[in-house]
Amino acid sequence: MAVYPEYVIKEVAEKNDIIEVISQTVTLKKAGSSYIGLCPFHNEKTPSFSVSPRRGIFKCFGCGEGGDVIGFVMKSDNLSFHEAIKKLALRANIQLPETKSYDADEAERKKEKRELLYAINKEAAAYFFKSIKTSDEAVNYFKKRELDGKVVKYFWLGYAPDSWNGLFDYLKEKGYTEGDIYDAGLIRRHESGRYYDYFRNRIMFTIFDANGNVIGFGGRVLDDSKPKYLNSPDSNIFSKGRNLYSLNVARHSKSRTVILCEGYMDTIALVKSGYENTVATLGTAIGEHQAKILEKYFDEVVICYDSDSAGRNATNRAISVLRQSGKLKISVLDLKAKKDPDEYIKTFGRARFEAMYKERKPDMEYLIEYFGEQYNLKKSEDIVSYISDMTDYLKLIKSTVELDVYANIISEKTGVQVSSIISQTGMRKTGATSSRTATNADVINVVNKGTAVNDNKQYLEKTRALLLSTLFYDRKLCEKYFSLIDASMFENSIHIIIYNYIKECLEKGEKVSNTSLIAKFDTKEDINAVSGVLALDIQSDDTDKAVRDYIKQIKEKGNAEKAYELLKENKITLEQFNTMIKNKG
Ligand code: UTP
Ligand code: MN
Repeated sequence: MAVYPEYVIKEVAEKNDIIEVISQTVTLKKAGSSYIGLCPFHNEKTPSFSVSPRRGIFKCFGCGEGGDVIGFVMKSDNLSFHEAIKKLALRANIQLPETKSYDADEAERKKEKRELLYAINKEAAAYFFKSIKTSDEAVNYFKKRELDGKVVKYFWLGYAPDSWNGLFDYLKEKGYTEGDIYDAGLIRRHESGRYYDYFRNRIMFTIFDANGNVIGFGGRVLDDSKPKYLNSPDSNIFSKGRNLYSLNVARHSKSRTVILCEGYMDTIALVKSGYENTVATLGTAIGEHQAKILEKYFDEVVICYDSDSAGRNATNRAISVLRQSGKLKISVLDLKAKKDPDEYIKTFGRARFEAMYKERKPDMEYLIEYFGEQYNLKKSEDIVSYISDMTDYLKLIKSTVELDVYANIISEKTGVQVSSIISQTGMRKTGATSSRTATNADVINVVNKGTAVNDNKQYLEKTRALLLSTLFYDRKLCEKYFSLIDASMFENSIHIIIYNYIKECLEKGEKVSNTSLIAKFDTKEDINAVSGVLALDIQSDDTDKAVRDYIKQIKEKGNAEKAYELLKENKITLEQFNTMIKNKG
């Protein structure tokens, strides 16, 4: 990795006008103080891509992509930071200094090897695709499973011929070495030292990573032989526990909800029916890494597993894993009939599936019903087992309010007191008084307040962002008001980093810079989020007053929000919560 000194990077950003650079690829129209156009990073018909010349920031309010001029070039030309700097320096006639590089070789080599393995797998996908027409059996299989040419191309489906060395020879002819083909997971080594094709006589499903690189394959037999599916071995580029089938498609769908199913065929059937927001695990139960990946791109996951007993057990396990991960809302689409999503859609059609999708249940509601069906809740010993089964899941609930809601439902179903159900979970005994069990009225009360506080929370986050963005670009206001602000007014780590950066610049007497701020973040999500803050433009003639209002609002409303968080995390009792809200802290 080459490192340029910060002053060079700033100069490159300053001397490349963001409007001029973006205009080379996007048609921009002036709209007020900024420019708008059709976003080059996703498909759209009405423009939601905005560029602010004064701020040097672009932001798409459709897909979320954002950044400064360097970030734009990286994204649109698919360049590394280093390459984008080179390109923009050339464009603005800036002489780049010689750079020292540190462990460049090692990192570069690893990256090159990965790129090579992607290329080999991509070539293999092309081979599998071309091989379909060499086999009547394969062609018929695709027909039988209603996989037409369009779907085959969209998902890069193919066929691995019944041959020991068809792919191996093909790849060697393309110039790849045995070692590299082996590392790509496409051949096996016999004891005798001979290599042979890993996938033979199978229908091939190409697996991509989130960025669209070909990382491996799933191969299905054409008959009932075993194993039904064979997946690429884990390698430098492929890990079953860290990837999801069709994530590259799902992450670009407009939906923040994702359908999680079990198989390749299920995913394809759902995407074909318009649910592009579908992914599947790769022959393993869903794990924590995959949960984290889903959290990155989605807010809700709808578990839609097979409706046999294996599928139901897997559903329960998935709920545990996803609950433990934390952030996602989880629901269950129970297909009831003994079908998987693929068969369901083929038998009953899209409309009926859509109705089921709309009726999906929150995970806890699903479990309450599921375990309810396993027992006879008129018998006392069954009730004990039922509560014991449910407790395993209730324990995973992080919010007191939510726990109360479900404990109440179970209480009504079984006649067991809410307080006993809750005490089984080991929660809620923290507050010293633990005064009394919440009544239904209490719960409803808090839930209502919760919604109000949640609206409040969104408004507050926006106000915080506006305050930061205004101060970032208005040095005078910043010098006047910054001393009234402190880090405790912010919660979002991105806001805190922006706050600290402004503070540091003020202390050093330096100008703030988009580019230096953005350089503090390394994930795409964070860069998009920080650009979202920087792109916010104040809607006021009297910015001085607006800033004062923002500060006042954040200080006051922040207290109510904190009280609600404390309650949710079980750190205060209902009584303390009410006092805090009344006293405004
Ligand atoms: P299923 O057996 O439910 O297959 O396995 P399916 O996806 O419905 O396929 P069809 O409709 O019978 O053709 C679900 C998923 O589990 C993994 C695969 O990812 C498969 O899509 N699996 C299954 C394996 O990895 N190996 C196996 O032997 C079987
Ligand atoms: Mn199936």
